[in-house]
Amino acid sequence: MPSLSNLVGLAAAAAASVSAAVLPRDGTASITPHEQYSSSVGVIGCHINTNRVAYWPSPVDCNNICVKLTYQGRSINVLKIDQSGGAFDISYDAWNQLLFNKPATVEPHQGGGTNVQWQYVDNSQCASLLHNGKLPLSASNSINYVASCLNQPNSWVAKNYELINLQDSVCHFGWDEVCKLNLSVSNQPTCPHTLGDPRKSGLTVYNIQYGTGKVVAAA
Ligand SMILES: *[C@@H]1O[C@H](CO)[C@@H](O)[C@H](O)[C@H]1NC(C)=O
Repeated sequence: MPSLSNLVGLAAAAAASVSAAVLPRDGTASITPHEQYSSSVGVIGCHINTNRVAYWPSPVDCNNICVKLTYQGRSINVLKIDQSGGAFDISYDAWNQLLFNKPATVEPHQGGGTNVQWQYVDNSQCASLLHNGKLPLSASNSINYVASCLNQPNSWVAKNYELINLQDSVCHFGWDEVCKLNLSVSNQPTCPHTLGDPRKSGLTVYNIQYGTGKVVAAA
């Protein structure tokens, strides 16, 4: 049996390895523009502001959803809800607004990476970008993510998620209705209509075309 001092040492080592694994909460990133909305965790695009999304290299977690970006004294907030292959992409309109202080629809710019300051902020600061302050997720396709967050019951997503009976992030298939989930009963959400019904919803998400600023329905 390990001695008390060994246990204390082990606990200290464990604490050190945990803090070593903690990702930075702010920094500088070279941001690039992103035209087409997507979400690796299945955030329902027709219920959020898709012009304010961050597509970043680190996995989407259950707490750090709201990122404040600052450039030359201007700030905007974006939702970190998609993982990129390595780029620090943000929605084209967010990129245009932050760097040039104009919406992409009004004065569309083009260009490469520009360094800006970033900082995780309290998710309440992104409330207006969300759906009544909640993170809307696909009832049929986001369950792995939701379950991983429910395993962290105090996480922000565990307390603020909402399941919508739409199959895809661009809202083309399913029903625009809220579902309930009780994992102690079933890992399948209960919805007013059939879960994952592939009917055409009549809804879509609009992207802003890079370079032209035209508003285009997502394919
Ligand atoms: C989930 O279901 C269990 C078993 O029926 C019940 O005891 C519990 O209150 C339910 N939880 C919620 C949040 O409804």
